[in-house]
Amino acid sequence: MKIDSVIFDLDGVLVFSDKYHYLAWKKMADEIGVYFDEEINNRLRGVSRMASLEIILENYNGAPLSDVQKEELAAKKNGYYRELLANMQPKDVSDNVRYTLDQLKKDGYKIAIGSSSKNTKFILERVGLNGVFDAISDGTNIVNSKPDPEVFLKAAGFLESEPGRCLVVEDSESGIDAAVAGGMFSAAIGDATKCGKSDYCINRLSDLVGILGTDKYCS
Ligand code: BG6
Ligand code: MG
Repeated sequence: MKIDSVIFDLDGVLVFSDKYHYLAWKKMADEIGVYFDEEINNRLRGVSRMASLEIILENYNGAPLSDVQKEELAAKKNGYYRELLANMQPKDVSDNVRYTLDQLKKDGYKIAIGSSSKNTKFILERVGLNGVFDAISDGTNIVNSKPDPEVFLKAAGFLESEPGRCLVVEDSESGIDAAVAGGMFSAAIGDATKCGKSDYCINRLSDLVGILGTDKYCS
């Protein structure tokens, strides 16, 4: 069956907000004296906010934290993150990304966002991509985060498409795992190309134009 819909992850695929996640988590981690570096940050790709906090707290040696204290830490990080996101502008979306979205729509594909982030709509607004997608499935409409397929299955449902006709574009291994678990095609970009589990591997987003519906390939 032919692909009729493309579901895009947001962070690391359409915009590069990972650096802001890093800076915000780093500030919070420094405040509570927890070691945190870019390598640990890479493990947070595609992972929900609270699950990310648990990964960061693997290096915490203080008194046990209650759920309320953890919620407070996550909220603090999100406050720092939102301050950084507020500086994002339309120029933070590359011409290559804008061209690809336009071209896929012209080619008749339905397009959606499938992101674990609860800040998705805020980011899309900041960079002028609101109104571009046929559907948005994000951290506000899911219970289970990637590698669970929920966020992508919801996106397919919003698009009124079948999972087997959707292609997911992801930069995280957990996102590729989620696409596979949901019975969808997948295209890996960036770090995710190393996992060897996707149908396609691409170097830049515009590689999608023309390869959908062709033989699967990974270089
Ligand atoms: C994903 C990011 O898109 O969103 C993760 O890759 C992040 O790193 C997750 O933890 C949740 O984001 P937010 O904005 O809801 O804290
Ligand atoms: Mg991502």
